[in-house]
Amino acid sequence: MAERVRSWADDVEAAVSTAMSETLPADLASEDPLVRRSDRADFQSNVALSLAKRLKRNPRDLAAELRDRLTGVEWVTSVEVSGPGFLNIFLSQSALLDRLASRLDDPRLGVPETQASQVAVIDYSAPNVAKEMHVGHLRSTLIGDALARILGFLGATVVRQNHVGDWGTQFGMLIQYLSEHPEASWRNKEVDPSTTAGAVSALDALYREARAEFDADPDFKARAQRRVVALQAGDEETVEAWREIVAESEQAFQQIYERLGVLLTLDDVAGESFYNPWLQEVVDELRDKDVLEESEGALVVFFDDIRGPEGQRVPLLVQKSDGGFGYAATDLATIRYSIQEHEGTRLLYLVDARQALHFRMVFETARRAGWLTDDIEAIHVQNGTINGPDGRPFKTRAGGTVRLADLLDDALRRAREVVAEKDSAHGPDELDAIAQLVSIGAVKYAELSTSRVKDYSFDVDRMVSFNGQTGVYLQYTHTRIASILRKAEETGAGQGRLHPHLALEPAERALALSLDEFAAVLNKVAATLEPHRLAGYLYELAKAYTTFYESCPVLKADSAETRANRLTLCQLTRRTLAQGLELLGIAAPEHM
Ligand code: ARG
Repeated sequence: MAERVRSWADDVEAAVSTAMSETLPADLASEDPLVRRSDRADFQSNVALSLAKRLKRNPRDLAAELRDRLTGVEWVTSVEVSGPGFLNIFLSQSALLDRLASRLDDPRLGVPETQASQVAVIDYSAPNVAKEMHVGHLRSTLIGDALARILGFLGATVVRQNHVGDWGTQFGMLIQYLSEHPEASWRNKEVDPSTTAGAVSALDALYREARAEFDADPDFKARAQRRVVALQAGDEETVEAWREIVAESEQAFQQIYERLGVLLTLDDVAGESFYNPWLQEVVDELRDKDVLEESEGALVVFFDDIRGPEGQRVPLLVQKSDGGFGYAATDLATIRYSIQEHEGTRLLYLVDARQALHFRMVFETARRAGWLTDDIEAIHVQNGTINGPDGRPFKTRAGGTVRLADLLDDALRRAREVVAEKDSAHGPDELDAIAQLVSIGAVKYAELSTSRVKDYSFDVDRMVSFNGQTGVYLQYTHTRIASILRKAEETGAGQGRLHPHLALEPAERALALSLDEFAAVLNKVAATLEPHRLAGYLYELAKAYTTFYESCPVLKADSAETRANRLTLCQLTRRTLAQGLELLGIAAPEHM
């Protein structure tokens, strides 16, 4: 693993561990040194308290022994025993400042590539063709994209997979309807194709019209079912119509991705139909390996620990009695492909929590088949649902599903108002450009600052506020630092070197230590697959900066040396914020 710039938390932990190994019996020396940041010191450890009982010793005495060892460490200036036996550890400020300088020298801000040995196959977004991309797909899209960015930054090889729903019986219905209604509005394209929503809306309307006929007319239903068979059999005209529908949808999804600024491209599409050529092979292999059982003519997998309310075993349906394959067979093919072709070591499926049972069964089946081995992680990275501003299920006034494109339009409108209110000097084009960045940043930050398993309310007014934990606040903090740095540049004050001997104010120290946490936070996200930890960290960093800025004048500092030190803090804060926001997929503007 590339050792870039070490983090203080790691160093302090290592130092306490060494002190423990020098003073404690061997079996206790390897315990967690329980180090954390503290308001009373740079770091605090309460390991003496936790171990004293087991050693039947006085915790303050034990702490004092550890303190004596720690004071010998080069970059430790002092250690106090406080209260019942806490160790308060203070770092040397020249060491602190040196490290800031090394971070600033490194384009990666000193962050090591801890994931370099991993191949992360990330399945995210996955909307369904011929249906509107709705608010439900937003979470998977944004969380998946943030993880793709973060794991990639940490050195992992990232394979993005957009498993769009582009196959299934609904296509028989759509294609049959189109062939019987050549005048269907979809072909006339009466909608405005220049709007993001245009193209998919038309498909959505087509879907609803076809569905209505399918439900009302048994003869149409039978014809639609024959179409499915024709599609599966590769009938040319039918396949052609299917292709047209799929291509149209994918273009529309792409427009939304571009608007959102997510990384997904058409090359990342590996939809359900992509796996068709392997479905029979997958079933044959599972049968050969005795993983499948026959049940009422179908081929299924059973699990001892997965049972229904009456204790009956719940099957994973791999092949239906009529020979058809469904969602489960396709996902068995995705996991096999991700392991064998992409050589994935971490397979992440960013899908709604309601599919938890499906993935549990798919993973267990893949294990029994021998595809999924102990050295590979397969994880269903679950997300909760998005509710309306009232906290209830998100519906339009008419009771329909809420279209993502409409929500983004709404956020854009509100952002424009809020930005104009804050600064009325913007021209209309500039205002549009800023509102664009702010609205997308607001939506993304609201999503990514929420724990993914929780449900949350989509509340545009709260999202675009300059106050509180919002994307706008972070973007605004970034522009304020950028403006100070510009002024320093203009006046020539920005050239100073660091002055490690100068005493640091408490707010400067706190900011320096907060900057030092960036790498650790990213590693935590890689381990937990929870981007909200990064979103929360950036907010804490912005607050630490604001506190610093309010108590420590930068351009008007007392001396050139102090100014140089503070400008260094400003520079590193700006770059850490910009890098962190980029990893969340949020723009960090220079002006706002
Ligand atoms: N298209 C599915 C849906 O909208 C999500 C697919 C998720 N990915 C997967 N490999 N199953 O619910």
